Amino acid sequence: MPYSNEFGDYYYSKSDGRLECNHVFIDGNDLKHRFAGSDRFVIGELGFGTGLNFLETLRQFKQYAGKNSLLDFHSFEINPLNAATIQKALSIWPELDNELGQLLAVWPQNFEKEHFLELNENVNLHLHIGDVNDTLSKQNFLADAWYLDGFAPARNESMWSLDLMQEIALHTQRDGTFASYTAAGWVRRNLMDAGFEVQKAKGFAGKRDMICGIKN
Ligand SMILES: C[S@@+](CC[C@H](N)C(=O)[O-])C[C@H]1O[C@@H](n2cnc3c(N)ncnc32)[C@H](O)[C@@H]1O
Repeated sequence: MPYSNEFGDYYYSKSDGRLECNHVFIDGNDLKHRFAGSDRFVIGELGFGTGLNFLETLRQFKQYAGKNSLLDFHSFEINPLNAATIQKALSIWPELDNELGQLLAVWPQNFEKEHFLELNENVNLHLHIGDVNDTLSKQNFLADAWYLDGFAPARNESMWSLDLMQEIALHTQRDGTFASYTAAGWVRRNLMDAGFEVQKAKGFAGKRDMICGIKN
């Protein structure tokens, strides 16, 4: 179970991170339907971590999107993990073996500010290295959906600030969506103040609530 000493938190649910990803991020953004109806889909993620969300998304994209559909996945990470750590963390999910192999084949050994990684002819991973509070404003993509996956808000405040949520809104298509595992009141208010409609939904495993929403 990957754990950050710096932030005092786990990277994903101790119960089952892959199922959590499906419940919170994939279903919270209604991606299975939206993949099926789209030629090109853009996802933004706060916190690449082990890549679990990315690989599970890739697996679902292969299943639900059309043969010629494209996925651009932009992920922001301040402290990229090395290949051995990623492999160790994710090898407990045999469902992700293929996708993990694809990621490790292109995973950098040394990190620059920006990496453009082609997983296959339909899927591109844009990895933005550094503090997202500095790196997001320099990007010019518009996401169809966001995964807000910083560490717990109380321990990783700068990943949930009003300034950052406003920057996220600026990088979201009209009718674009977000989802997050946390339903902390101040995070909800920041998202609303940034221009999102915010809803509570049933949380994963032991969590009572999660949130998802749409940009008007
Ligand atoms: C909960 S983990 C993300 C888990 C990840 N989505 C996965 O699938 O494994 C949060 C991540 O946010 C990163 N992070 C924390 N603060 C950050 C910041 N200011 N800018 C960019 N990344 C940050 C951490 O290094 C960590 O990898």
